[in-house]
Amino acid sequence: MKAALLAWFSQHGRDLPWRRTRDPYAILVAEVMLQQTQVDRVIPRYMAWLDRWPTAEALAQAPLAEAIRAWQGLGYNRRAVHLHRAARLVAAQGWPQDLTSLPGVGRYTADALACFAWGRPVLPVDVNVRRVLERTGFPFDHECAQALMDLGATVCLARVPRCQACPLAPACPSRGQRFQPRRRQRPFEGSFRQRRARALQLVAERSRPAAELDPEAL
Ligand code: ADE
Repeated sequence: MKAALLAWFSQHGRDLPWRRTRDPYAILVAEVMLQQTQVDRVIPRYMAWLDRWPTAEALAQAPLAEAIRAWQGLGYNRRAVHLHRAARLVAAQGWPQDLTSLPGVGRYTADALACFAWGRPVLPVDVNVRRVLERTGFPFDHECAQALMDLGATVCLARVPRCQACPLAPACPSRGQRFQPRRRQRPFEGSFRQRRARALQLVAERSRPAAELDPEAL
């Protein structure tokens, strides 16, 4: 299974900019951006972010407002606050032993950093990786991390997997199955998240008295 997966990856794997570095700061930026934003939308923003703030020290010296402004359009703006705070901690104290002690860094992001930056033998399990593990029942290891991500993103799709294009199909117990749609995310329009985004956009434009802003969103 592993050999078939890695052979497929060498032909069909995606060439993504954060896969060309082992710099933990760059990988953190990518992973935080990728937490809720699609790969295609992240690529240009990742490049621009690293051009502007190439190191944790550089980001740590920037005002928080600049980081939030540079995040605009990526969504879930709290991630910019977390990333900025994490950069300040790393600039002051270095990388912590327990990466989940950094703001915005949960189990998945900590494992992605450990695996991709430091080459530690841990498999970061995101939704795509989890799906492939569950469907195949095969104990893939950390060397398969990026291959599993790409297989899950392009072949082993959530509802209608493309088993005819899958290198694991011959040995996969879930081959040919269809799956129920996952619960849809509640719409952004009219949500509290939208109100917070609007308030943030207004203060990002210029400083304003609190009375001009949505008090709950504030
Ligand atoms: N490569 C490394 N981390 C990734 C991620 N979160 N999504 C897609 N490709 C990646």
